[in-house]
Amino acid sequence: MVRPCVAARQSARVLSGRTRGIAGVAKIVSLNDEREAKREAEQEARKPSFDRLARLVDADMSRVNQHILDHMQSPVALIPQLAGHLIAAGGKRLRPMMVCAAAQLCGYTGSRHIGLAACVEFIHTATLLHDDVVDESDLRRGQESANALWGNQASVLVGDFLFSRAFQLMTADGQLKVLKILSDASAVIAEGEVLQLMTANAPDTSEEDYLRVIRSKTAALFAAATQIGAVVAERPAKEEEALSSYGMNLGIAFQLVDDVLDYSADQAALGKTVGDDFREGKVTLPVVLAWRRGDAEEREFWRRTIERSDQREGDLDHAMRLMAKHGTLTDTLDRARHYGAIARDALGLFPQADIKDAMLEAIDFVIDRAY
Ligand code: IPE
Ligand code: IPE
Ligand code: MG
Ligand code: MG
Repeated sequence: MVRPCVAARQSARVLSGRTRGIAGVAKIVSLNDEREAKREAEQEARKPSFDRLARLVDADMSRVNQHILDHMQSPVALIPQLAGHLIAAGGKRLRPMMVCAAAQLCGYTGSRHIGLAACVEFIHTATLLHDDVVDESDLRRGQESANALWGNQASVLVGDFLFSRAFQLMTADGQLKVLKILSDASAVIAEGEVLQLMTANAPDTSEEDYLRVIRSKTAALFAAATQIGAVVAERPAKEEEALSSYGMNLGIAFQLVDDVLDYSADQAALGKTVGDDFREGKVTLPVVLAWRRGDAEEREFWRRTIERSDQREGDLDHAMRLMAKHGTLTDTLDRARHYGAIARDALGLFPQADIKDAMLEAIDFVIDRAY
């Protein structure tokens, strides 16, 4: 797939090639352009992706997707309509893939992971419905969000339904330990979202508090997903812990990158509105660092825009200039690489296997992704 941002760069190059005047020069330029295009295409091909992971869990994921479709049904028509709108839009399905990958890494040959992977995606989908209401986001997975289409009330209630469905899927599995891991994760996610509400509009939030939020709201579900793979395979505690640590640290890296993308992504590729975090006064690491590194005048800018929510035209651009000045996006990415490295080492316990390599590549994808 050619990503929209790459396509845009390529067409810009084609256009600039065409506008050169003298024929000879145009020829050299176009040769250079061709080489450059080839180099970029090669670079793109080398980019980390989760394609390998997706291929290795493909058969499982077909069953997981069918399970999701079967279990979002309800005689109350609005439920499958609204949930179906979000689910059919796709999403990366990273969390259920992680359940399947961890189970495969642990040599599991049964099928309990299918229902549990669907359960994890239901929890994720429920949090997205609630999150878009809280964040007042109107774009999700490249289309209008459910709250934009059906309103906040319907989104919150269908989110509740999906959470409850997730619990039905956990009890269908029947193992108390699994129920504990997933219900603990659900409670921690909700705590994280509430904690986030408490740090909103406070640019002087500490990095520690920010980390507490993202560990809870995002990383806890990744950790539960990968731990479950070891639990269904009945692997020893050490492997369970290693997989949980892989998921937790991957999840922290994932949210750090999400918070960078909110300021820097190509919106069409991301499928969400760029700049949402700033507009709603959400304090993520790029802002935390800019505040800490800023002078008095800059801090007054953050106070006005984030604390007092008094935003004017050009403020988002100015915020991005301050972030560039202090290198806060690149430093946030560096932090993500740090957690990615911890996730990588957590898997050191497991012997070489294709699925392990794919899980390691998934870390690089999470850090390098554009969507
Ligand atoms: C979005 O997660 C919510 C965050 C934790 C940032 P994803 O980026 O995995 O969302 P989908 O499922 O691919 O749409
Ligand atoms: C992730 O945070 C929220 C959840 C864990 C549901 P964000 O608010 O940054 O997620 P996006 O950017 O809306 O997907
Ligand atoms: Mg959000
Ligand atoms: Mg975000």
